[in-house]
Amino acid sequence: MEKKFNRTLVTCALPYANGPVHIGHLAGVYIPADIYVRYLRLRGEDVLYVCGSDEHGVPITIKAKKQGISPQDVVDKYHSIIKNAFSGLGINFDIYSRTSSKTHNKVASDFFKKLHDEGKFITKESLQYYDEESKTFLADRYITGTCPKCGNDSAYGDQCEKCGSTLSPEELISPKSAISGSIPVKKNTKHWYLPLDKYEAWLKEWILDGHKEWKSNVYGQCKSWIDSGLQARAVSRDLDWGVPVPVEGGEGKVLYVWFDAPIGYISNTIELLPQTWEKWWKQDDSKLVHFIGKDNIVFHCIVFPSMIKAHSDLILPDNVPANEFLNLEGDKISTSRNWAVWLHEYLEDFKGQEDVLRYVLCANAPETKDNDFTWKDFQQRNNSELVAILGNFVNRAVVLTHKYFEGKVPDNKRPEAIDEQVMSEINTCKETMERYLSTYHFRDALKEAMNIARIGNKYISDTEPWAMAKTDMDRTASILYNCLQICAKLSIAFEAFLPFTAEKLRNMLNVGIYAGQDYRKGEGQASENFYTENEGAALHSSQSSSKELILKWDMLAEKELLKSGHKIEKAELLFARIEDNAIEAQIKKLEETKISNQEQANKNMEEQLEAQKAEISFEDFEKLDIRTATVLEAERVPKTDKLLKLKIDTGLDTRTIVSGIAEYYKPEDIIGRQISVLVNLAPRKIKGIESKGMILMARQPDGKMKIISPEDTLTNGATIG
Ligand code: 2FM
Ligand code: ZN
Repeated sequence: MEKKFNRTLVTCALPYANGPVHIGHLAGVYIPADIYVRYLRLRGEDVLYVCGSDEHGVPITIKAKKQGISPQDVVDKYHSIIKNAFSGLGINFDIYSRTSSKTHNKVASDFFKKLHDEGKFITKESLQYYDEESKTFLADRYITGTCPKCGNDSAYGDQCEKCGSTLSPEELISPKSAISGSIPVKKNTKHWYLPLDKYEAWLKEWILDGHKEWKSNVYGQCKSWIDSGLQARAVSRDLDWGVPVPVEGGEGKVLYVWFDAPIGYISNTIELLPQTWEKWWKQDDSKLVHFIGKDNIVFHCIVFPSMIKAHSDLILPDNVPANEFLNLEGDKISTSRNWAVWLHEYLEDFKGQEDVLRYVLCANAPETKDNDFTWKDFQQRNNSELVAILGNFVNRAVVLTHKYFEGKVPDNKRPEAIDEQVMSEINTCKETMERYLSTYHFRDALKEAMNIARIGNKYISDTEPWAMAKTDMDRTASILYNCLQICAKLSIAFEAFLPFTAEKLRNMLNVGIYAGQDYRKGEGQASENFYTENEGAALHSSQSSSKELILKWDMLAEKELLKSGHKIEKAELLFARIEDNAIEAQIKKLEETKISNQEQANKNMEEQLEAQKAEISFEDFEKLDIRTATVLEAERVPKTDKLLKLKIDTGLDTRTIVSGIAEYYKPEDIIGRQISVLVNLAPRKIKGIESKGMILMARQPDGKMKIISPEDTLTNGATIG
């Protein structure tokens, strides 16, 4: 039996306030959430829609340091860019607050303290990287080095942005401090940990048995985390930007950003509804849904629920419909490489075409796999779907009504069987849409809405009211009566997807729409409200509509929405064609980004080539034992792109070396080759394999690595120096 809920709390991942929002964020998280919220409200359900900026974490402090400003300056700037951009796209949360707020600080701090006082944490002393030059512990992000998986030499201690692997600082090859560039040392420090292992059995039952209906990408990720065994996770960090650890011994430490950020959903609710927030977070007739991207799954399905379980009196999410990633023109979207379409820039470049982006991002949403956004597809979808199907149908219906019936809904004078059939097809679309929307299949739901427009288009083309008007005005009246009913239905069906367009359409039809509860004014102010003309559906108007007819979701199935004689306004184009020059300008912008990234990479390479390392003594040099060796065997290290496992004959012994050269050499190309090896490098474990020594490689200006081989075949073990 499906559980009956009385209200729905929808949260969207709090975006980091260290950069603007791009189309990847929108397609993955915010567009689907907005569609869901608008749909539920249109159905008359009670919904609270919460988001805000995630303003803590190391990347923000790194950005501040680089720019010579404070972290607060960084987040102030991006918080307002992000907030404005969301509302420009019609995404209007009931509250969009921030984790640097006082309320959040207190709520997160109290949450930690409660868990601490109830003994829900364990503490551990551990050796952490410490920068002796800048006298600070180094958060994972502050350590850079070579990725053991792909050989990228600017990987972070928590993640490699090139191959996307999650890392720990210990795995980095040649770690360096990102603050001073010095080689960090290990020093003891104490931290608080949430023992996730204790929640493993419960998580198994709650997710793996209890939520089999979750999207397969989400369920699969949870299963793989749980099956590989959960470990205690540190919930504090040595850092001075964040919510201070509020217990003894917490000086100089803050809550880990992933501990405090999800609490932001609660603190933002409290900030908006200080008296009634508990109704949303504590009553089990409240449904909690987290909209997130796939990189956030573990935090929302494993870590935050374990925190909630430990806290014991808050509700758990009913669903976490995470999406995969959106790529841009075939490449991974990257903030640092500026490879993105930024929302605030789109809104500037495509004024009045907000819904086109909403449409394309939903139609292409990476719901089950990563997807690609291309500007050509964007243009094509606008011109051949929005303009040619939806816009064209509405325009024909409204223009002909003015032409033949003075802008009034005509009488249904002479119905025919085809009319009934068309309306019944639309009813089927409505039911299909409901099924898709309630199970988070927004792409399919949008296709179905578009099918209603297709049905309308076919109906008007088949019945040809412009031709009929020459011979049979009664039948013409019926046809246009039906076309206008379909227009009204379209304004309902598209309200959640294309709110700006749906509003324009309603204005033409002279009707209002039910917009559900509006909590944006906070406590006690929530009231039923209606979108009215010229106020922007996107603005989520709180004024009552002056319109006589207020549309609601269920009316999509009604036969007659607009009564005969109802006056409609003049036709206004819903969509404009997007011409080649607008698309070429966007493609050019991306090409310029590519060129400037390439130039930067070349510059870095030149700098590397030019950069001389600090002088060393002859004694230091003499410590290096470099010898000739021969590769006996070579194979790829499983689950890595760049690593080869080599068995080599050093003349002294036969040993294994793991080397990040798979990008440049296939195993078969390297077997039998003579190489130069630093043989007395201390052994290291790479991907669980003990690697003894290092092959000497030369990096070319284009970044490619080449083996340094002797000119003639030499005896293995010959010393180089
Ligand atoms: O990945 C991100 O952008 C995070 N800032 C999301 C945080 S979601 C929540 F926990 F607040
Ligand atoms: Zn990597």
